[in-house]
Amino acid sequence: MAPHSVETGPIPAHVAVIMDGNGRWAEARGLSRSEGHRAGLKATRRAVEFFANRGVRALTLFAFSSENWQRPRAEVEALLDLFVTAIEEELPELRQKGIRLRFIGAREQFPRELQSRMGEAEAQTAANDTMTLVVALGYGGRWDILQAARRWIRQSTGTDPDPEAFEAFLSTAGLPELDLLIRTGGEQRISNFLLWQAAYAELCFLDALWPETGEAELQGALDIYSRRQRRFGLTSERRGAAHA
Ligand code: IPE
Ligand code: IPE
Ligand code: MG
Repeated sequence: MAPHSVETGPIPAHVAVIMDGNGRWAEARGLSRSEGHRAGLKATRRAVEFFANRGVRALTLFAFSSENWQRPRAEVEALLDLFVTAIEEELPELRQKGIRLRFIGAREQFPRELQSRMGEAEAQTAANDTMTLVVALGYGGRWDILQAARRWIRQSTGTDPDPEAFEAFLSTAGLPELDLLIRTGGEQRISNFLLWQAAYAELCFLDALWPETGEAELQGALDIYSRRQRRFGLTSERRGAAHA
């Protein structure tokens, strides 16, 4: 049976978050967008701790999209610097908590230093199994489906792939099915995040901007999730009780 929390009941195995609203949070305070991203990192730390404590198996965070490369150069550079320092600063605590780190996205587009930090962090946490923290950097849902298709075509032996065989080529291979997709910042769109993987995920849109998102908001999302009835295209009778 899936783990239950005291407050909410069923806990999703895999949660993904579109961490949106750093820029608006900063602009409302007369700060630079980069300062908003730094405040966003603090919220990220809180979220990792929150979901790990709740027994979530995998947490996938959208940190930088394929399209975010088109932002002003200064903002992109500030973000790249922040990713390097974030990996360095967070790694000891992730290791101590037994959290495994994994990066998904077109990583060859990033500066070499960041690429090697990502590889080192993955290697140093590879044996951890409390929770897998997946950071989507340079990620796009369309990129993921295309790279999977390319690799499948190259390796295929002429057989048609079934969905399970195809999923093994997606960057999220081996992770539990996506149960809950949260977006902060008030927009109700996917913005090219986990397109294939979100097929039957429950969607939860929060008005809070990412830097102001804390335990109360995240618990609110888990509460909403626990009240949803998931049917996966079946009737409720065939599916049994919600989340059974
Ligand atoms: C999300 O916050 C972080 C990234 C996309 C890197 P935004 O920077 O998109 O913040 P808003 O949406 O402009 O407020
Ligand atoms: C989505 O946010 C990407 C991340 C949170 C990393 P955006 O701010 O880039 O998305 P849009 O532009 O509102 O669709
Ligand atoms: Mg945004």
